[in-house]
This record gives sequence, structure tokens and C-alpha cells, in this order.
Amino acid sequence: VYTKLTPEKSRPNSKRIEVRCAMEKNERKGIVLFSEYKRGEAIKKALEKSREDILFELRESKLKGRGGAGFPTATKWNMVAAAKSDKKYIICNADEGEPGTFKDRVLLIEYPELVFDGMVIAGYTIGASEGIVYLRGEYEYMLKSLLDYLEAMRKDNLLGKNILGKDGFDFDITIRLGSGAYVCGEETALIESLEGNRGEARNRPPYPVNTGYMGKPTVVNNVETLASVPHIVLKGGEWFKKYGTDKSTGSKLFSVSGDCERPGVYELQWGTTINELLEIVGARDAKAVQVGGASGICIPKSQFDRSLAYEDAATGGSIMIFGENRNMLRVLKNFMEFFVEESCGQCTPCRIGNTKLLEGIEMIEKGEYTFGYINQLKELGQTMKVASKCGLGQSSPNAFISILENFKEEIFNGNGGRNGK
Ligand code: NAI
Repeated sequence: VYTKLTPEKSRPNSKRIEVRCAMEKNERKGIVLFSEYKRGEAIKKALEKSREDILFELRESKLKGRGGAGFPTATKWNMVAAAKSDKKYIICNADEGEPGTFKDRVLLIEYPELVFDGMVIAGYTIGASEGIVYLRGEYEYMLKSLLDYLEAMRKDNLLGKNILGKDGFDFDITIRLGSGAYVCGEETALIESLEGNRGEARNRPPYPVNTGYMGKPTVVNNVETLASVPHIVLKGGEWFKKYGTDKSTGSKLFSVSGDCERPGVYELQWGTTINELLEIVGARDAKAVQVGGASGICIPKSQFDRSLAYEDAATGGSIMIFGENRNMLRVLKNFMEFFVEESCGQCTPCRIGNTKLLEGIEMIEKGEYTFGYINQLKELGQTMKVASKCGLGQSSPNAFISILENFKEEIFNGNGGRNGK
């Protein structure tokens, strides 16, 4: 499967790039993450540099967090590097639980050298001697191969004491398994879970950079963020920001699923439009694209010229495509059932709010609703966005609001539900 991407005005500095999607690693092609890399290469280069130089390159690259929120990585690292503490941690958030997201899975299985080397470089830069991978419970099947990989790194002195002969730089990585709770992908719930407590979000601030794992300054980064670091160290920040847009530099992995001929994980530069992506993956009759998984927004055909970028349609990388024949109310119901199930129940807006939104969908299904009540539910969704304690309840109303807005014709007059009063 092979296609070419034409650069758009939004990506003035971009070159034509080749995109190839395939399930096999040796068939994958990409500009950053799916390019050539040899284990340890970037660690070696990083250890020749000062911490300040690495932070400088990271800042130059304008790398932003790939979990979805897009916080500048250099700022986060810098805060922990500058913190005075006897102990610091780097945590790799591999609790990839967003429905429709499976790019971290591919990185961990096929490119562990990028993820682990990124962690070692983070450890060196921020002054941490311990790295922890919080691995999604459902990914237990990859645990053994990852542990074997870490063992091989120890043998090559890429982990352990005085790494690659660098006096005083000791660093090792452990892997801890989650138990299947979506909320534990939220960084503070993740930390609670690591500490042996119930997986519930903490109030922020303080952010983990100040009070993280065991109360110590901690960097929590998504798998893909860490995997981008070795390439930046090797090729520099200037090189990295040649790709993408001004505000969204570099490349992004997209997990593409749904009604298309070639689902899979694609590496594209930021700024790619939804139309371009649909062409690449062979989606001919799409009427909606859910950008950012169940917690993201649903974009209708009339907006397919929008760009995938932090400044426009931001995403942690999940793209779900819905063809002409999909019933969008049923799609929405599926998302809301997920959130009702996964809400940790700690805060009221999320616990009650998601249940109310789901009830509203069931009322529409039965034709037992008024538009006044549906509008109240949309307002409730807006309240949940500001009043919920963590990202779960803050983003779960996105699909409810965007699907009911963008597909009202279908839902209220057509196949998706009976006429309301
Ligand atoms: P956030 O914007 O609150 O924080 C993002 C990161 O920046 C965090 O690591 C936080 O500690 C740090 N940060 C923010 N402000 C800071 C400050 N003033 N000082 C120091 N550090 C600061 O976003 P949040 O709640 O962590 O994540 C929400 C995102 O997660 C959403 O965009 C959503 O799409 C995404 N998400 C991803 C999933 C996945 O499976 N990849 C699942 C569910 C949601």
C-alpha cells in the first residue's frame, strides 16, 4: 500500500513524504519514529552532551506531549531537572486505554529501543536513577518480551551502573502492570496505582513535576513522546521541526480504524488534513471521523479539510472512521456506555453526569425526549468539562456534544432516532 502526500499551505516547510502502511515492521515507513534507529545510538550521543544541551535541543524541537494534551516536553523535563530532591523518577505512561488507540502498542512491540532509550536519556537529563513503565493490564502479553529486552540492555550496559562508562550515571527500568482501569491512564491516578492505592486522580496542582511518585519530582511521559526523543538527540531540534506546523512540530502516529480499506498505524506529519488521511487509508464513504478516541470530538464531512494539529483538531492519535451506513446515535451510545463503566466514581460531575448523558441517549432511542431536555444535557456536558476532577470527566462529554450537534438531522429526524417533541 503506497501513496504520496502533497504538502499544504499549513506545512510550508514540508517535503513530499512517502507514507506506507503495513502490519509488518519492515514494511513501515515514516519520517521520525518509523525511520532507521539502532539501540543505544542516541544514549551514546546524549552521554557525550551536557544535560543543558539536551534540554536545549528538546526546546528547539518544540516537542509536545503525544498522549493528547500537548504539554511542551522540554518544560516538563526542565522543571524536574531543576528540582532539588534526593530522588526523581521518569514514568512512561503505557496505559494506552483510549478506545481506538493502538499506536503505543506498536511502539512497544516493534520499537522498544526507541521507548527505552528515550527513558534512559530522560533519566540522564533530569537526574533520575529509576524509570518505571506503567503497562496497560491488557498488554500483559508483551511483558515477557519487554523484560527480555531490558535484560539485553543491561548486558550492553545501556542500563545499570555507570552506563556506557559514564561515571555516576546509574539508571534502570522496571515494568509495572495496570489492572484494566481506563482512569489509570490519567497521570495522577497512575501514580496512585503505582503506590499501591486505588486508582483515583489527585487534585492538580501540585503537578507530578513537583509532587509525583512517592511525593518526588516525576516526569510522566507518553510512550510516543519518549520514543521521539532519541531521534531529536541524534538529528537535532532544527531537523525535527522541519516537519509539521509551527505549533505542532514533527510527526505523529495515528491509529486508524473503522470504515476504511487500510486500517493501521500511520506516521504522518502534523498538519495533515483529515481529507488527506482518509485518502491514504482508503476511506471513500466516510461521513464522520472521531478524532481523539471516545474522549475526542466527532468531525463531520463538511469539516474534513481541518488539520490534525494541536492548534486545530488535536489528538493523541486515535482516528475512527464512520461510513455512510453507520448509525451515529449507536456510535455515541457505545462511547457513553464506556464512560459510565470507566468513571472511577470519585467526583460527582463525572459519576452522575455520564449516567445522565447515557440516559438521554436512551430517551432519544425510544423517542421519549424533548429538545429542551437534550439542550439541558448539553449544558450538563459543558459543566462536566469544567467541574470534573480529571481528564476523564472533562473530556467524556466531547462526543456527546459534537455528535448531537453535527448529526442532528440524522439523529432527530432520520435513522438514528425518532422525532422528538
Ligand atoms: P493536562 O493538559 O492537564 O496535562 C498534560 C501534562 O502537562 C501533564 O503531564 C501535566 O502534569 C503537565 N502539566 C500541565 N500543566 C502543568 C503545569 N502548570 N506545570 C507542570 N506540569 C504541567 O492534560 P491531562 O489531563 O494530563 O491529559 C488529558 C489528555 O489525555 C487529553 O488530551 C486526552 O485526549 C488524553 N487522553 C489520552 C488517552 C490515551 O490513551 N492516550 C486516554 C484518555 C485521555
